Amino acid sequence: MNSAELRQAFLDYFASQGHTKVASSSLVPHDDPTLLFTNAGMNQFKDVFLGREKRDYTRATSSQRCVRAGGKHNDLENVGYTARHHTFFEMLGNFSFGDYFKREAIKFAWEFLTGTLGLPEERLWVTVHVSDDEAADIWLKEMGVSAERFSRLDEDNFWQMGDTGPCGPCSEIFYDHGADVPGGPPGSENDDLDRYIEIWNLVFMQFDRQEDGELKPLPKPSVDTGMGLERIAAVLQGVHSNYEIDLFQALLKAAAKATGCNDLEEKSLRVIADHIRSSSFLICDGVIPSNEGRGYVLRRIIRRALRHGHKLGQDKLFFSTLVSALVEQMGEAYPELAREQVRIEKALLSEEEQFGRTLAAGMKVLESAIEDMDGKVLSGDVLFTLYDTHGFPPDLTADVARERDLDVDMAGFEKAMEAQRERARGAGSFANDYSDRLSIDAITDFSGYEKLADEAEIVGLYRDGEAVDSLNAGEEGMVVLASTPFYAESGGQVGDTGFLVLGDSRFAVADTRKRQAAHVHLGSVESGTLKAGDKVAAYVDVERRKAIMRNHSATHLMHAALRDVLGDHVQQKGSLVAADYLRFDFSHGEAVTEAQREEIETIVNRQILANTPVSTDLMDIDAAREAGAMALFGEKYDDQVRVLTMGSDGFSKELCGGTHVSRTGDIGLFRITLEASAAAGVRRIEAVTGENALAAMRKQERALSDIAGTVKSTPDNAAERVRNQAQKVRELEKEIERLKQKLASGAGSDLSDAVQEINGVKVLATAVDGADGKTLRVTMDKLKDKLGSAIILLAAVEGDKVALVAGVTKDLTSRFKAGDLLKHVAEQVDGRGGGRPDMAQGGGNNPAALPGALESVKDWVAGQG
Ligand code: ALA
Repeated sequence: MNSAELRQAFLDYFASQGHTKVASSSLVPHDDPTLLFTNAGMNQFKDVFLGREKRDYTRATSSQRCVRAGGKHNDLENVGYTARHHTFFEMLGNFSFGDYFKREAIKFAWEFLTGTLGLPEERLWVTVHVSDDEAADIWLKEMGVSAERFSRLDEDNFWQMGDTGPCGPCSEIFYDHGADVPGGPPGSENDDLDRYIEIWNLVFMQFDRQEDGELKPLPKPSVDTGMGLERIAAVLQGVHSNYEIDLFQALLKAAAKATGCNDLEEKSLRVIADHIRSSSFLICDGVIPSNEGRGYVLRRIIRRALRHGHKLGQDKLFFSTLVSALVEQMGEAYPELAREQVRIEKALLSEEEQFGRTLAAGMKVLESAIEDMDGKVLSGDVLFTLYDTHGFPPDLTADVARERDLDVDMAGFEKAMEAQRERARGAGSFANDYSDRLSIDAITDFSGYEKLADEAEIVGLYRDGEAVDSLNAGEEGMVVLASTPFYAESGGQVGDTGFLVLGDSRFAVADTRKRQAAHVHLGSVESGTLKAGDKVAAYVDVERRKAIMRNHSATHLMHAALRDVLGDHVQQKGSLVAADYLRFDFSHGEAVTEAQREEIETIVNRQILANTPVSTDLMDIDAAREAGAMALFGEKYDDQVRVLTMGSDGFSKELCGGTHVSRTGDIGLFRITLEASAAAGVRRIEAVTGENALAAMRKQERALSDIAGTVKSTPDNAAERVRNQAQKVRELEKEIERLKQKLASGAGSDLSDAVQEINGVKVLATAVDGADGKTLRVTMDKLKDKLGSAIILLAAVEGDKVALVAGVTKDLTSRFKAGDLLKHVAEQVDGRGGGRPDMAQGGGNNPAALPGALESVKDWVAGQG
């Protein structure tokens, strides 16, 4: 069963037992400050368990996407080091809200595992809480579970969602991966090794843990269960590591291709395959990489993955290219992932570009620090330098250290961080310190609505956060003028750049910001000296400012168009007006359709073509509101406000302190480049104007003619051609599948010629040309039917891998176990595998040893007495 079939089988089984199928909730918990990320299937039902919320069902089942990175359940550090820890995984669950309790929960789980999935009982091990006689009786007396595969544990059998919230004793089911895997049963000394793996946790929800630790009974005893899809898939697919299941193999292959590393067992590939899942789903659910909270956990995950790519020698951008492989694997079960693909790729790419600039340099610093080390502990100062200068989250550095068997001094890192905070508070260390502590009395007159160049007197100079009398060549600092044409960042519009000039002295302005009533020019002296009292000429970078004005005016026109097309519920939620593009976030519950997008674009461009003058009026706030000017909800305005009116017949009227074009025609052209979700209920549009719009269109045109050229068509016909080719590929794939099956079953008739009799038992051990694991299974079934009673071992060689299937017809399973035979053969080809007495599968890595291994089957049969 592949992962998708398994997920479906689970949901279908519980639906057939009266459970309502409920879709996975977002990874960002709704309205639950106790939780960083959704980490269990029960999260979305928390209030139902607590009796605060009613649903119209009392039994539910779901496949829930979960992230365990940061917070109470955190597996980030283990990824890559074990066979079954992930930052992202899917949890299959069934839930009872005051409906059934222990007996049914146990019955369902057992029936699904041993019935629907056909797992042998002797491979399962059950645990219950030390105090839970009721559950123990159900397992031992009613379900007939052997007391030899049963234990009672304390803490491990009590589950709680977080420090507070629903909790209760639980019963866990383990799968025994076999005596040849090291490890002891649950509760024994070596139970953390790989032999016994927990696959399913049945929680008997009974309490709501309070902040003071008190256990308050829930309104009704309930059930919450969770089974990791990846783990149970590994069991069913006869593999030992989650990374060997179908879904991960596809991702590992994509990661191998993207990084150029061909060893699918490579730990770094596993980390990348795991991390592309968590980071893509987190972005899908609205998390944005940042330096705090959820965004920082996401950033740490992405940067870890990038570092592993770098370790594999990939110095080009690769991570965001893996999203399409992920969508292929999981897009059907999670349509939102497919919908948000472009946005996810963009966010990952930008993070990759950003970290790419410092990763290699940081690794060099780290390598040489490791070389110079004496002892085994990497110092907090190294951790801090890497963090502060190269953007290495300390856990990333710790991951590198762990690979080299080194420790890191986290306490030392925290100390260095604290020292830095101290320095920042003292306003000492940053050239352009812009902390809130700096207070400037000067009042700057802004002349930039009318002029882009002006003369003005220097009324303040600052260096390292302190007032100074002069700034000299090469020094960074801040300049305050009595009046300035430089716009200071506010209302979403970025600050101006340009130059302050006096004779040979020149100060390059990198940004302009507001501090109290002063406009502060941040930058550095390129030549000469600036002194307080100097009269300088201030030149704004004209081209840049004009581009900003085009984007700002276009933002107003678009805002009005959005309300026309989508409705009056559209409210501005955020805005960025830069030189190269504009970004606008607004309240709207669903994606803007292609048709709506075009309509918005058309409306704005018609206003541009009408080329009407843009007018500004100063009036008091009440008059402005009366005139119908749009104001931002919750924003504080001065008594005197500027009202911007633009477009035909007062199309747009907004309060705004920004700078604008004089006529709408100056905008030139307006194009939307992105429409996406920004947060729950908030959409984001990005757009370009003027020459940037032209450039964006040219870029698309080039992409299209590239596609047309590749499929040997014209831009007009390319889409049709691509569709046809895709259709053809699908047909060919089906045809190949059909031929493979035919080949294998055709071969099946010849294969039976090779049957030998050993002690009266028919034995067939042979390789099947051109087959793969799937066709081997089909062939196995056919041969069993044909031979009636036999022991069969089939092998296929694919590249440097061997696929193996062993089968024993039912009449012989008491004497010969397919699993044992498979293991016997797999060991000889450097592999492993297992399964049921009548059917087992596995694989190996040494095709050269296969002939000898096949030959040995006869002796094995003879030796079984
Ligand atoms: N909520 C339980 C768990 O996560 C089922 O293990």
